Amino acid sequence: MNISGSSPYISEESLNEMLTDLMLMFKNGRLTDGPYAQEFEKEFAEYNNVKYAVSVNSGTAALDVALRHFRLMGREVIVPTNTFVSTPNSVLFAGGKPVFADMNEDSLGIDVDDVKRKASSKTAGVIVVHIAGLVCPQINELKQFCDEKNLFLLEDCAHAHGAMMNGQKAGTFGDAGCFSFYPTKVMTSCEGGMIITNNERLDEEARCLRTCGQNVDRQAVMLGHNWRLNEMAAIVGKHQLEHLEEFLAKRNEVAKWYEKALANVDGITLFRVPSNFRHSYYKYPLKLADGIDRLKLASLLKTKYGVETGHVYYPPCHLQPFYMENFGTREGDLPASEQVLKKVLCLPMHYRVTQENVEYIRDALVSSIKELQTAF
Ligand SMILES: Cc1ncc(COP(=O)(O)O)c(C=O)c1O
Repeated sequence: MNISGSSPYISEESLNEMLTDLMLMFKNGRLTDGPYAQEFEKEFAEYNNVKYAVSVNSGTAALDVALRHFRLMGREVIVPTNTFVSTPNSVLFAGGKPVFADMNEDSLGIDVDDVKRKASSKTAGVIVVHIAGLVCPQINELKQFCDEKNLFLLEDCAHAHGAMMNGQKAGTFGDAGCFSFYPTKVMTSCEGGMIITNNERLDEEARCLRTCGQNVDRQAVMLGHNWRLNEMAAIVGKHQLEHLEEFLAKRNEVAKWYEKALANVDGITLFRVPSNFRHSYYKYPLKLADGIDRLKLASLLKTKYGVETGHVYYPPCHLQPFYMENFGTREGDLPASEQVLKKVLCLPMHYRVTQENVEYIRDALVSSIKELQTAF
């Protein structure tokens, strides 16, 4: 048995549609900055019920571009330490300084009280990350705080395509939402990303920035880069978007199987999702009891049972060597993230996971935990 932790899904029918479009694209000869990216943008904006969507060539690029709109030079941006390094890195690339905030243990999302403590006259804004696919439950409180203090709120939605709180989609709570279409994500374009917003100026600047800072008259008016999405990626993304609701339904079904299968397993705690949320289940995290070493458990699950697992995110950003060496961040700075994330294990979550897989994973988990406890 070999169960991968994540896997893109493209049905035979969808693949044929992609291939037809690829043939047309090559015949037309328009390989980038073309009609497929425009269609993908239009459909992604409609799906999220926003005015604008700007395609770019990665989730990192989406953050890089959106952050430039906020003119960060010499200013700080509060970011969760529990995220992929792209989030704070993009702040640095846009000329700002990331300030790390701790995490809420129940949602794994940013701790809004810590954001309030860390906000100062130097703060330009806040980035919230909807970890694993759960919209940050304190998003409205965070937005209200940002509005009061005149801070921008950017949503890193790399995990949260189609995720909702009270029927409102991730990416529509703040000033803009940044999505990744990396192959492990809920939907993919191989590599790619998208910025969504209702802010006309941000949309205009993003289009300019992704084309090396050139405006519609091809004049260089900003310092940009080549962040464009090519047409092949746009074709893949557009056809994946057509199936996003189906992908989300399947991931939620897998989560239900896990919830049932793992209800009485000793040594683990599941994360509860309130009924007013639609999780996108990019990941299925659970918390291990004290005394169970996540790395040893992950290794046993992989080598003995062929079950690949993951994490969100350990070490957290402030304990990554680059940040420790250059910003002096240390163990002890953000205690909730440090203590909890060590114990968070993510089980295989993707379209191909079956109910039999879930039962096998449960048995592998129970046996591995027992084995580790006996050895201990
Ligand atoms: C939270 C988060 N932000 C940003 C990114 C960057 O996206 P990409 O890999 O498409 O550049 C990722 C992707 O792994 C992510 O998980």
